[in-house]
Amino acid sequence: MTTTENGSGTRELAGKRALVTGGSRGIGAAIVRQFLDAGAEVLTNARSAASTPHDGATFVAADVRTRAGAETLAAAAHELLGGVDILVHNVGGAGPHKGALAIPDEEWQDTLALNFLAPVRLDALLAPGMRERRTGAIVHVSSAATPLAPPPFLHYTAAKAALENYSRGLAAELAPSGIRVNTVSPGRTATPGGEATREQWALLDEGPGQDTTAPPIGRDGRPDDIADAVLFLMSDRAGWLTGSNLVVDGGEFPRG
Ligand SMILES: NC(=O)c1ccc[n+]([C@@H]2O[C@H](COP(=O)([O-])OP(=O)(O)OC[C@H]3O[C@@H](n4cnc5c(N)ncnc54)[C@H](OP(=O)(O)O)[C@@H]3O)[C@@H](O)[C@H]2O)c1
Repeated sequence: MTTTENGSGTRELAGKRALVTGGSRGIGAAIVRQFLDAGAEVLTNARSAASTPHDGATFVAADVRTRAGAETLAAAAHELLGGVDILVHNVGGAGPHKGALAIPDEEWQDTLALNFLAPVRLDALLAPGMRERRTGAIVHVSSAATPLAPPPFLHYTAAKAALENYSRGLAAELAPSGIRVNTVSPGRTATPGGEATREQWALLDEGPGQDTTAPPIGRDGRPDDIADAVLFLMSDRAGWLTGSNLVVDGGEFPRG
């Protein structure tokens, strides 16, 4: 039995149709690979395809910052998969600034569009199909640093805080329809996007500096650490879990 099989030897996501946003690298790529291993049919997107695409996943180019991009992706999910049972909103990120007041207006809008509006729009397009079928599971990827609200990233953590709040409310609305909605909040994870952001932060000559010490568990996260949590939340083992926020950060940002 592999780790993606359940107690009866069936692969955990066998027969499930999954959309994972931003699956061309980093955390999204690990989620796509684990979902494929678990037997799901997987559609993923990014603005540009991965240099080493996953065998077995379908890729669509779509920029989810716009409503048109979300509609392109949702249409592909309907046409190529016939709808989705599993939806992971993984796309996200933002660059640092010298402080909250230095964040330009267009970047506030861009960051809110990427980290908050994209999931809201895609849910509105794809969750009604789940409701009709009275089954489905959604994960929103936030950040363990959200409650800290670091000024260089206030546009990002404010957008992620909105996402967490929205995710809880959506969970309450969809639970009676048999749809589970949860959040996964990664800590510092070794990905191309994460590393590039931390390099930019280190180059800022003003504003609060970043803490480069390893999390209490003794190492930074790996994309598979986060994908493990997402796969668990999508599996039947999490059948009674909804409205939760699973913080996966090696103990870096303890929450009450
Ligand atoms: N890594 C960390 O330390 C960390 C910590 C906390 C939270 N997170 C969260 O975890 C999630 C994944 O982060 P990551 O570090 O794996 O990111 P990443 O390495 O930058 O990968 C992001 C993925 O999203 C795609 N993408 C970016 N902008 C897009 C857009 N506008 N439309 C469609 N696709 C887009 C990228 O491909 P293209 O560029 O080709 O579009 C890529 O596939 C994000 O929500 C992030 O906020 C990460």
